[in-house]
Amino acid sequence: MEKLKRQRVFDLLKGHVDNLINEQVNVKGWVRTKRGNKNVAFIAINDGSIIHNIQVVVDVAAFADDELLKKVTTGSCISVNGKLVESQGAGQHVEILADSIEVYGTADPELYPLQKKGHSLEFLREIAHLRPRTNTFGAVLRIRHALAFAIHQYFNNKSFYYLHTPIITGSDAEGAGAMFRVTTLDLQNIPHKENGTIDFEQDFFGKETNLTVSGQLEGELGALALSNVYTFGPTFRAENSNTTRHLAEFWMIEPEMAFYDITDNQDLAEDFLQYLVKYVLQICIDDLEFLQKMYDKELIERLKFVTENTFERISYTQAIDILVSSGVKFEFPVKWGVDLQSEHERFLVEKHFKKPVILTDYPRDIKAFYMKQNDDGKTVRAMDVLFPKIGEIIGGSQREEDYDKLVSRIREMEIPEKDVWWYLETRKFGTAPHSGFGLGFERLVLFVTGMGNIRDVIPFPRTPLNAEF
Ligand code: 4AD
Ligand code: MG
Repeated sequence: MEKLKRQRVFDLLKGHVDNLINEQVNVKGWVRTKRGNKNVAFIAINDGSIIHNIQVVVDVAAFADDELLKKVTTGSCISVNGKLVESQGAGQHVEILADSIEVYGTADPELYPLQKKGHSLEFLREIAHLRPRTNTFGAVLRIRHALAFAIHQYFNNKSFYYLHTPIITGSDAEGAGAMFRVTTLDLQNIPHKENGTIDFEQDFFGKETNLTVSGQLEGELGALALSNVYTFGPTFRAENSNTTRHLAEFWMIEPEMAFYDITDNQDLAEDFLQYLVKYVLQICIDDLEFLQKMYDKELIERLKFVTENTFERISYTQAIDILVSSGVKFEFPVKWGVDLQSEHERFLVEKHFKKPVILTDYPRDIKAFYMKQNDDGKTVRAMDVLFPKIGEIIGGSQREEDYDKLVSRIREMEIPEKDVWWYLETRKFGTAPHSGFGLGFERLVLFVTGMGNIRDVIPFPRTPLNAEF
């Protein structure tokens, strides 16, 4: 077969290809469908560059190699040379009249799991190695990429530096959740000290280590030198929470800013989220339209709504008042001091305010040690951003920059000072007011795609009892 430059399906369907009309082109991709009769065959090819397929038309009689055409079935991978022509049929601008076809890989129709359309999302999770080939996961993965790119672009435009924080950590100061241990000790023959405890001095790092639950503490070290930084990396939480919004391995974006107070922090979070949603509305509209049609009729309207309305900002205490006086019977009863559940968050966002809400000034007893203490002695300068359908999408705070207050909080919470001495030193040497937050990347992708389960917005989800792929 003549070697021609490969054209992406995206470029042929969306690009300015007038100069290629009536020219020989090449496309490569996976066959989505083949239909037709003994005179003509229509092959729909998708190469992952766009939700749409390009149609290849084959004049069967003129096509000498019958055996080859038989191998072209749903799921097979082919390369096609042919003439690009304006399409006769409705629904597409151009199509290809095939001259020659090469089959790279067949897919036995008896065995190929995606032979038929319309599999359930649950079934597709069991074939995570193949599900990127479906329209749904193609759309989700392209949107996921666009969001990741837009995040870096946003911060780069604002002169924030991307800080790479460690994935293996020697401290659990954050206390955000149970951790996964990292060890090279022989589990069949664990070394013990004389007092019977495990001798971690013999472990790889000479101490206990785990996978990180957050890059924040190291992010703060960066902010107290470079002013504005952000992390974007994987984080790990070994909680046994089997919900549609929790993963054991998820990606988090954590900006950390010197000289920002809690209001600056809220402003950044709101501007950031609106920027990201606008970006996707602009860049990924074909994928959004597909997901809207298939899964969520209000998707695009909801996304636009978030970009067009300012977020409601209220205190935790005001939120409790609203929830209590609503008269709604929640599964988890509310009173001042309790941690809010997603049913409460979603009531505030979807029923009461009907827009995103930023809650601040939570009770200090339900928040991490590093949050700045308010003068009332009861609350801390925390903030959570709550989104429709998701609940908490961002958690953050202004940080306690006062050495003495921080130390007394650490002692109160019985956090071993030997684990956080380096963190405390930033308050000893040139401390500064500063703030930051963490955006759960998959929660963002969940919101933007309108999917219902967080397992369907990451290529290979890690949840309890699930690490096959
Ligand atoms: O609220 P979290 O636990 O906050 C922190 O980790 C802080 N260190 C962030 C900071 O201030 N720099 O987590 C932040 C966000 C949540 O709002 C949520 O979107 C997401 O991370 N998240 C999860 N996403 C998926 N699966 C889980 N198990 C998650 N836990 C938190
Ligand atoms: Mg939180």
